[in-house]
Amino acid sequence: MSRSIKSKNGEERYTTLQVLSRLAKYTFRPALFLPLIAAVIISGAVDITMPTIMGRAIDAIVGPGNVDFAYVLKAAVTMLIFYIVGAGMNYVFNMLSNKAANRAVRDIRRDAYDKLSVLPLKYYDTKAHGDIQSRFINDADMVGDGLVQGVAQLLSGIISIVGSLIFMLLLSPVVTLAVLVVTSITFLTASAITKMSNKYFRAQQALVGSLNGVAEELIHGAKTVKLFNYEKRSQQRFDKINGELNIIGRRAQFAGALTNPTTRFVNHLAYISVGVVGGAIAGISAGGISSFIVYSNLFAKPFNDLTSIATQIMTAIASARRIFEVIDETGAEEDAKDAVEAENVVGKVDFEDVNFSYEPSHPLIRDFSLNVEPGSTVAIVGPTGAGKTTIVNLLMRFYDIDSGAIKLDDIDIRSIKRESLRRSFGMVLQDSWLFEGTVRENIAYGREDASDEEIEAAAKFAHAHSFISRLEKGYDTYIGEGTTLSHGQMQLITIARTVLANPPVIILDEATSAIDTVTERRIQRAFEKMMQSRTSFVIAHRLSTIQRADVILVMNAGRVVEQGRHEELLEKKGLYFELYNSQYASEEETE
Ligand SMILES: Nc1ncnc2c1ncn2[C@@H]1O[C@H](COP(=O)(O)OP(=O)(O)O)[C@@H](O)[C@H]1O
Ligand SMILES: [Mg+2]
Repeated sequence: MSRSIKSKNGEERYTTLQVLSRLAKYTFRPALFLPLIAAVIISGAVDITMPTIMGRAIDAIVGPGNVDFAYVLKAAVTMLIFYIVGAGMNYVFNMLSNKAANRAVRDIRRDAYDKLSVLPLKYYDTKAHGDIQSRFINDADMVGDGLVQGVAQLLSGIISIVGSLIFMLLLSPVVTLAVLVVTSITFLTASAITKMSNKYFRAQQALVGSLNGVAEELIHGAKTVKLFNYEKRSQQRFDKINGELNIIGRRAQFAGALTNPTTRFVNHLAYISVGVVGGAIAGISAGGISSFIVYSNLFAKPFNDLTSIATQIMTAIASARRIFEVIDETGAEEDAKDAVEAENVVGKVDFEDVNFSYEPSHPLIRDFSLNVEPGSTVAIVGPTGAGKTTIVNLLMRFYDIDSGAIKLDDIDIRSIKRESLRRSFGMVLQDSWLFEGTVRENIAYGREDASDEEIEAAAKFAHAHSFISRLEKGYDTYIGEGTTLSHGQMQLITIARTVLANPPVIILDEATSAIDTVTERRIQRAFEKMMQSRTSFVIAHRLSTIQRADVILVMNAGRVVEQGRHEELLEKKGLYFELYNSQYASEEETE
């Protein structure tokens, strides 16, 4: 799937050090970190002293005929206590590092969400939605995992390496040298194998990605796939990728399976060399040799894990980079310092020589002027892509105009606080937007303080009350995944919401285009009642509404090509006349 876009210069935007120090700021809290460090040091120290105690105990047993029972018992009890302390500290360490990481992830997500909610629509236009979502969800998780596992393992690995090296040197520098030589061999072979298997694993991941894409196409676009009889081709594509995945997958598994036996073999070589060098050359006791073997293991193991730890930390850093990009995104919507509240809006709207384009290379709205008196109805008609919705986007200030001015009650909308500007408008769109919650909560979305009576009154006004009452739980019916309300019913709920919010200006953008005629009639009546006392902008509506409109704007390719009342426009025999004949004439017959 190609839905994710790579940030072009994302890699250079922050250095690794910057990312790390920022992550540290999210993670570091003295109250959490001091105990965490203490726990990791104690549990590391326990692991490191254990082999020495064990070695001495072995020496106490091995001497034939003179086993020092008291010493062995003491050693056994000490070891037991140490194991308990070690396990306890390990638990504390895991718990605290999880806590620190979860907190950091929570805070990072919060900052990203805060930024996402103030970014203008323009940001969402230029970014793939899947990509934004994946930064927010997956990348945040990756950072958390990297912090918990990666950093934790790194810390305990370092303690293990340094500690065992010190103890080995104390026991015998010569044997330590032998261990170092053999460990280097292990490390080199392991990294060679890992390199090879990584190549295959990466290829495998890419293939899984494309396989996902094909499957997703089929799952989400099942209807379209069937409609165009695409099943066979889709199947063929799937089979091809699936087959490749099988081959690469087997190679990856083979290479992956090689790592463990090889490193084990070399590790065993290390044990033998410790035994030989230690016993024959350095003359160490049996107990000394056995502690050495454990130390060599403690010393070598973190090296084996090093590549996977490094990968995990690098992944976390890359993920953190991607989220920080979102958090640092500039151009958030901010109100001007002297912005005013829109109060007691009567609904006078003026467009003055407005110019606008989504992309500078494609000028869209050009020199658009319109004066709308309070309480009047403006109908906007025109072919798809003419710029009808764009006019609404500008009025709501979802996008800022390039030149000219838009005024609400004679105040430039750029000097009105966004929140109060948007509260002045009620919008009903083609796609009704309901959130997870009860019907009641959905209606009260714009006015959380509304009483049950007010909510019901609004629903009655919107002709939604009767169907809501017939729902199993009435107004307390939960709307969420798997709700089976029809499109028309959802639309009625959004209308009730708008009625309750009681805005001075309403905007209906293709609000009934996806609805059956019976429901449409009902919605139509609700709209007409709503429009009586308010300034309204209606786009692509029924003929009856357009005929009654105070002004009809006929748009084509971003320009208002005709403007006037129904009869005047028909007489012109221009685009409106054409549209009327092709779209509305048949509707009139059925009225
Ligand atoms: N967010 C956007 N970014 C870039 N171009 C857009 C965006 N929204 C709409 N357009 C383009 O602007 C033109 C007008 O679109 P729109 O106002 O939605 O038309 P209408 O509502 O009349 O069908 C179309 O060519 C459309 O492709
Ligand atoms: Mg539109």
